[in-house]
Amino acid sequence: MVYQNLLIENKGRIQYIVINRESKLNALNKDTLYELHIALGDALYDKEVGGVIITGAGAKAFVAGADIAEFKGLSMKAALHLAHENQKNIFDLIENFGKPIIAAINGFALGGGLELAMACHIRIASDNAKMGLPEVTLGLIPGYGGTQRLTNLVGKGKALELILTADMITAAEAYQLGLVNHVVSQDGLLVKAEEILNKILSKAPLAIAGAITAVNAATRNEGNGFETEMEEFAKCFGTADLKEGIAAFLEKRKPSFKGK
Ligand code: COA
Repeated sequence: MVYQNLLIENKGRIQYIVINRESKLNALNKDTLYELHIALGDALYDKEVGGVIITGAGAKAFVAGADIAEFKGLSMKAALHLAHENQKNIFDLIENFGKPIIAAINGFALGGGLELAMACHIRIASDNAKMGLPEVTLGLIPGYGGTQRLTNLVGKGKALELILTADMITAAEAYQLGLVNHVVSQDGLLVKAEEILNKILSKAPLAIAGAITAVNAATRNEGNGFETEMEEFAKCFGTADLKEGIAAFLEKRKPSFKGK
């Protein structure tokens, strides 16, 4: 597929997905969301891709939110459909992705932009990044998981303060809250994201996928997270990678994982 609003670039086993609508601060319009869904599906099934880094084009914005212009005239029914479809096809897809996904937040991450970053497994921010959920300013609330994921990441009190005041916070403040894992210089952003992703890619892929599933189970109000962890733990014993990992440890050598 030829993308109009995304740039896709592979670097070794890392795939970059770059939101590329710089003139609109990479705001997520319908077409971009559709392309993101297709690109993520491709990345998931592409055996050459071990993990993904999502970032925004240009130096100003990661993603400045859902495209506000497209909200004009939307009915309640259409809004519910939109939220359902995009939550399932993009935000939940990212959260439950069987490969690690890192958000490299290179500027404004607002509304749907912060929701996109929060769905990713790890967030790295450059020191110029600004984050917030400003929806109430428009007479709206977050609709792509923001109320749930922000609460999970920073706790109810801070989440309510940020959502109710619509305050924008700096990268340093986001780090203090645990909203981002690291803050680095603008030049160092992708270097740091690649460093972390490459470290993850050196581990057993099926174990990484199982760990993502089990950790996610702790933050969703469905099922029993401990049960999920036990199931994912047990699944590892059916993999060749675990045999290899144990053998490598006992033989004092580096493991060679095959994702099987
Ligand atoms: N949806 C649609 N267009 C957006 C957008 C969004 N979420 N965010 C920015 N844009 C567009 C602007 O309309 C402008 O387009 P134009 O040049 O055709 O007029 C362009 O991107 C540049 O934005 P601008 O507002 O001129 O930049 P700025 O530096 O003055 O301000 C922001 C930057 C991020 C503070 C400001 O753009 C903003 O508040 N955006 C909306 C953030 C938001 O509420 N997101 C949640 C949506 S639910």
